[in-house]
Amino acid sequence: MEVLEEMVGTSPSIRAVFDLVRKVAKTDMPVLITGETGTGKELTAQAIHDRSLRKQGPFVPINCAAIPETLLESELFGHERGAFTGAVQQKKGKIEAADGGTLFLDEVGDLLPPLQVKLLRFLQEGTFERLGGQQTLRVNARVIAATNVDLKAAIDKNLFREDLYYRLEVMHIHLSPLRERGEDTSLMAMIFLKRAAAFYQKPIRRYTSEAIQAIQSYAWPGNVRELSNKVRRAVVMAEGEDITPRDLDLTCETVQPEDSLDSIRAAHRRIEVELIIKAISMHRGNLTRVARELEVSRTTLYRKLRAYNLEKLVPSPVDSSVTTCNHAEP
Ligand SMILES: Nc1ncnc2c1ncn2[C@@H]1O[C@H](COP(=O)(O)OP(=O)(O)OP(=O)(O)O)[C@@H](O)[C@H]1O
Ligand SMILES: [Mg+2]
Repeated sequence: MEVLEEMVGTSPSIRAVFDLVRKVAKTDMPVLITGETGTGKELTAQAIHDRSLRKQGPFVPINCAAIPETLLESELFGHERGAFTGAVQQKKGKIEAADGGTLFLDEVGDLLPPLQVKLLRFLQEGTFERLGGQQTLRVNARVIAATNVDLKAAIDKNLFREDLYYRLEVMHIHLSPLRERGEDTSLMAMIFLKRAAAFYQKPIRRYTSEAIQAIQSYAWPGNVRELSNKVRRAVVMAEGEDITPRDLDLTCETVQPEDSLDSIRAAHRRIEVELIIKAISMHRGNLTRVARELEVSRTTLYRKLRAYNLEKLVPSPVDSSVTTCNHAEP
């Protein structure tokens, strides 16, 4: 199973995503990425592009929900001079900009039906015309679409074309909400803490156990984005060496206990991962102490760190996911 450096996670559901990313990256087929807000749809699209044969080409995102309907067709497909009032010169659209690369159609559920038809034709034949244009253009762009709305429900309401949906969903990647990714929440919290502490140059290395408790029981409606923002805020706010629940400022939106039962193996894994993460945090990455606390040998601890993909948590000079973020806002 491949691990994606820029994407953090060790839960079975995110590992399945990493596996799919690696597989779809080798093809040129359209991909549909679904998931709640902040679950990592754009990051996943970028990860696919970066692993594809098109990685030298452009990655061109367009957010269909953020552009007024009247402008979207021209933004996407371009226009000819005089196509509408104000079109004083010819303009290439995002599809043409993505030639040789990947077009990332964010919030694809917001495309109006006439544009859905035009997109379907592009997916099937690779051709389109600019707005107001006669000439048929051919462009070699791979399409990755994302949505956080239920497209099946949109189909039932005649808002989304079924044929387009089936064309897009052949390769479907669903990102679970963070609250369903178990141990990933604490793992990400630790990694985001390292990044933010390095960025803001603050000597903060751990969470208090109450803070870890709060992180684990919060429902994270804004998913990974919210977690990353809260951790960054906490690092800025924290006065001592530890992050407290107060620094995190989480409201009381907690996860409801799940009805479904874990398998024994999944429960075992979740508990082990959470204990290891907690112990690493408490002992500031000192593995001898972690091993002693958990009453296992260092060898066993190393084996488990590898098996659960938790090596990122341990300070190491080759830890690229943590060290590459010093230039940008974490
Ligand atoms: N698995 C992950 N590991 C590390 N960072 C992640 C992961 N998933 C998401 N993020 C980070 O969380 C933030 C939100 O991710 P992204 O923008 O890809 O979400 P999205 O699903 O496109 O959200 P929206 O629906 O609101 O557009 C980004 O800063 C991204 O880098
Ligand atoms: Mg997005």
